[in-house]
Amino acid sequence: MRLVIVSNRVTIPERTEKAAAGGLAVALREALEKQGGLWFGWSGNVREATSAPNVVERGNVTYAVTDLTEAERQSYYLGFSNRALWPLMHYRLGLTEFSRTDYAGYLAVNRRFAKALIGLLRPDDIIWIHDYHLIPLAAELRRRGVGNRIGYFHHIPWPPAEVFGALPFASTLASTVAAYDLVGLQTQTDVANLMGCLVAMCGASINGSRLRVGRRQTQVQAFPIGIDVEAFRKLAAASVRSATTPLKATRQSLGERKLVVGVDRLDYSKGIVQRLEAFGQFLRSHPDQRGRVGLLQIAPPSRSDVPEYAELDRQSDEVAGRLNAALGEFDWTPIRVVKKAYSRNALAGFYRRAQVGLVTPMRDGMNLVAKEYVAAQDPADPGVLVLSRFAGAAHQMGEALIVNPFDTHEVAEAIRTALAMPKSERVRRFEKLYDTIAATDIGWWTRSYLAVLSGAAPLEPEIVPG
Ligand code: G6P
Repeated sequence: MRLVIVSNRVTIPERTEKAAAGGLAVALREALEKQGGLWFGWSGNVREATSAPNVVERGNVTYAVTDLTEAERQSYYLGFSNRALWPLMHYRLGLTEFSRTDYAGYLAVNRRFAKALIGLLRPDDIIWIHDYHLIPLAAELRRRGVGNRIGYFHHIPWPPAEVFGALPFASTLASTVAAYDLVGLQTQTDVANLMGCLVAMCGASINGSRLRVGRRQTQVQAFPIGIDVEAFRKLAAASVRSATTPLKATRQSLGERKLVVGVDRLDYSKGIVQRLEAFGQFLRSHPDQRGRVGLLQIAPPSRSDVPEYAELDRQSDEVAGRLNAALGEFDWTPIRVVKKAYSRNALAGFYRRAQVGLVTPMRDGMNLVAKEYVAAQDPADPGVLVLSRFAGAAHQMGEALIVNPFDTHEVAEAIRTALAMPKSERVRRFEKLYDTIAATDIGWWTRSYLAVLSGAAPLEPEIVPG
């Protein structure tokens, strides 16, 4: 059976490119390479008019990518996906901007993707669709007679019906979920929320992990995503020996000072501004720590065309500047916010050097930085993970210091506790965390999802006129 993956963004690897360590894209590529397959989605480029997908072969994997028009990018990607669904799914009703034009654009791109994909499908393909940009894609495929097994994985949180229901056309969108054979989510909370939405809005009935809507049955299950733990551990260990990684330069610039690290896309769901405030609070409450520890926040810009992201960009500069001016010294800058992306190699080095990993999103599907931070630690002298209870990762990583990111005081005190934690306790917590992330790594995730999807009962194609 051939595997077909569909995701909003697709990057065609260079012919000579060796797989970089970890990452979802690499794991999916490996799954495709193992059994042969097709990867379909947006090229990331914009062009004036739509055209047939660009098809490129790499070994036994076919990449088929399509450009978006500027109008499609605005309505489908920036508009409905990232100004309506993204904040809504992250429980941020106040930031949710709904526009009928954007919603129409979202549906139209999903229809266009369905039409283009059908031309590339074979009868025994297994189709695996990723993330919120493409929720209605299976319904569009079914409408055109596709009877293949189709799975969906939702990488971000799914909110309760009371929140999701604020979206105009919420029940129409929720009902399209029933077109899938398998829906995977990050946590049991997300599973319960999605099921709750389908029961409340679409009259679904539940039987164990199966949802029934009309004649269709959909399996809904949690599959917490992981990282390539072994590859990341090796990267971090190698960074200690390498003279060229930023780790050495970090040592020179920090001296003996301790390091607290945060790594996130510049996104309001990540709680970056709240985290900076908490670090400031920590320095105010513990003046003896001034000059002895610094926060390095790496925050590559993301979705900068969306106004809420531009505002966050400005706000994070403002808060870091204010705290540095108030708390810094002539020879010590407490907070460094670096708005650029680093290689996985460099990140592994930063994690390894940092005594504390600060992962405090206001809401997050999983948060793989939490897992990367643990994988990168020196087992003999590991750092401490401070983790938001609102990250999916907190469901698995109870040995981290779990905090409420809305509580500045609590986060500040957790930083203090982490910095002062005796080695024996650090090692004990690290070992448990490492075992958990190693047992549920990215290979485990891909295999478990695909095992359930490929075992789903064969389906009758449902041809709906329209
Ligand atoms: C999240 C989403 C992904 C998305 C990524 C980067 O992790 O779950 O689907 O690709 O953010 O966002 P971008 O808008 O740059 O693709």
